[in-house]
Amino acid sequence: MESRLRLSKKGMETYTRAVAILKISKKPNGKNRRELRTANRALRLEIHKAVIKDLSRRNAKSILEIGCGDGELLVKLASIGNFRSSHLFGIDRSRKGIRIARKRSKRVRFAVGRSNRIPYKIKFDIIFTVLSFHEWENGYESIPGILARLSPGGSFIIYDTMPMSTRSLLVYKKRGVKLTVLKDRILVKIVFSKPSSTAQYI
Ligand SMILES: C[S@@+](CC[C@H](N)C(=O)[O-])C[C@H]1O[C@@H](n2cnc3c(N)ncnc32)[C@H](O)[C@@H]1O
Repeated sequence: MESRLRLSKKGMETYTRAVAILKISKKPNGKNRRELRTANRALRLEIHKAVIKDLSRRNAKSILEIGCGDGELLVKLASIGNFRSSHLFGIDRSRKGIRIARKRSKRVRFAVGRSNRIPYKIKFDIIFTVLSFHEWENGYESIPGILARLSPGGSFIIYDTMPMSTRSLLVYKKRGVKLTVLKDRILVKIVFSKPSSTAQYI
């Protein structure tokens, strides 16, 4: 059974702080803006911790993050024992993000790419995306292409904070993909698991 993605107490506190700042001033400026930036960054790091813990339960040889930004999460993942022998890849549509990511690590392979244009030929055991899916201009339409890039038995995992319609995802169940949607307060985790035998997959 899929495990829940749990945000720490500190994560919830930073979220509450960010919401409070936004309530006080709709257009934060000066001190408010700095506070909001600090709260958002702290929240992002707490979400990264929860994601890393969740990914650590899996055994994967090849892992791709879509929308990896400046590569912060993948670089952390690379330093964790479970992933020492995994092949780690990250793509983002932002050239600037990828430039920074490449400077951060030689161990992880980073490239400019998009959710609907993955610039690698290999198949992945896990493809995941964190706090990015809600920005994808072609969100739901990218999914079939991503599932096609999974190895048999592989998973595509969306981690995000935005409320999103999951009804349109049900179609994948009919195609033999196991779909799990888990929500925990502000976090949502959606897992598409491809069957081990691709013969079932249409
Ligand atoms: C809020 S940032 C999150 C970055 C990183 N995942 C993190 O948690 O720190 C969202 C990222 O998604 C990237 N992005 C948005 N749409 C994308 C798409 N269709 N394909 C690839 N990257 C995309 C943006 O360039 C940005 O770096």
